Amino acid sequence: MVAYRSKVVERIELPARERRERALEEAGYNVFELPSEDVYIDLLTDSGTGAMSDAQWAALMRGDESYAGSRSFDELESAVAEVMGFSRVVPTHQGRGAENVLYGALLSDGDVVPNNTHFDTTRAHVANQGADPVDCPVAGARDPTADGEFKGNFSLERAREVVDDVGAERVPLVIQTITNNSAAGQPVSVENTRQVREFADRIDATFVIDACRFAENAAFVRRREDEFADYAIDEIAREQLRHADAVVMSGKKDGLANAGGFVATDDADLFERCKQRAILYEGFPTYGGMSGRDVAAMAVGLREAVEEGYVTDRLEEIQAFADLLEDAGVPVYTPPGGHAVYLDAGAALPHLDAADFPGQALVCELYREGGVRGVELGSFAFPDTDRPELVRLAVPRRTYHGEHFEHVADTAAAVLEKRESVSGLEVVSEPANPELRHFTAALAPLSD
Ligand code: F0G
Repeated sequence: MVAYRSKVVERIELPARERRERALEEAGYNVFELPSEDVYIDLLTDSGTGAMSDAQWAALMRGDESYAGSRSFDELESAVAEVMGFSRVVPTHQGRGAENVLYGALLSDGDVVPNNTHFDTTRAHVANQGADPVDCPVAGARDPTADGEFKGNFSLERAREVVDDVGAERVPLVIQTITNNSAAGQPVSVENTRQVREFADRIDATFVIDACRFAENAAFVRRREDEFADYAIDEIAREQLRHADAVVMSGKKDGLANAGGFVATDDADLFERCKQRAILYEGFPTYGGMSGRDVAAMAVGLREAVEEGYVTDRLEEIQAFADLLEDAGVPVYTPPGGHAVYLDAGAALPHLDAADFPGQALVCELYREGGVRGVELGSFAFPDTDRPELVRLAVPRRTYHGEHFEHVADTAAAVLEKRESVSGLEVVSEPANPELRHFTAALAPLSD
């Protein structure tokens, strides 16, 4: 069993209700606009918000800030090789930097890209290359109550339909996202990864794994896929990732770092193309938009992420949080995923239509009631797609404890007790790019 004790503490405070009301209004009912000091429990994202270990802080001090040939890069290269099994690494400032570098090297106008589910920055980067992102979730992925051990899987059936529709020559790239963040953080089986590899071979496409949460995924695989019951987490990770031609990685998730990302591959030609793009958009290929110390901390974090005790504790923490919410009568997506608990806002606020953004209404009420910040991943974040009205409560790694999760469950229960009085919202201003609207759009309550 593994636990953590605190070496450094950070004070957090629940602001008075009046201040929360005012902050919400001033934020245009968009919690991305809230100052963090007005937030008590921040579950907006698990990305770059976790606590680093003492070993990572020590690595920060030893970071090599040389522009070229940094020792910290060597440390990253060996960590990626040993943990993930790839010999060539292009560091980037974070995951979307890696997406820009890799997808820019692989895609052109008119291409079509199947993915089990595109995360929002992935969707935007694919679209930014003039390509069409197509989601291929399995049946049940969008059903918050459906049973299933691998609801994050890639639907080969759907992908074959896409290829039949547009022709294989327009599908040069297939992506699999593990875990499947936009499908409630659900895991993907190694068997499914093997099938996607075969599918990509058949249509002569490059196969990329978005590996942001590869360690959490491996922990699910060990519990749920019989073949791997006796494997170590890193062995499972390598067995899954080796099927991909390349991975895109955000070090802010299972790199346990506050910044960073990379592309990794064994393909010398693809590596070269990514490297050249990285010089243009990120930085010299031995730092890639990060400081040397961040590279060093991420190298240590990657190794910690596949430690048995760490990742077991991580899944148990999420499961316990989901149980607390369920016990408080809050409808949650089941089974819970690896990095977050997703609330079913459609079931929580049944009097609101999708057009009234029940998910965003619930996000606002959680903040108003208890200073809790989550994020909507329903019809506000994904206009014109057929998704359930989910609210994600993402859990920063090694950061919050039982009493915090209890506060969130009590808050959600208090909101549900007065659910009839919760009004819907309308968008009053939005940016030009619809893929990214939830970050900056402003809303107003419908009853005003
Ligand atoms: N791919 C997936 C599956 C992600 O979840 C994210 C980020 C990215 C790529 C981009 O990585 O943030 O380092 O640029 N997800 C965060 C989230 C932001 O809140 O889920 P990034």
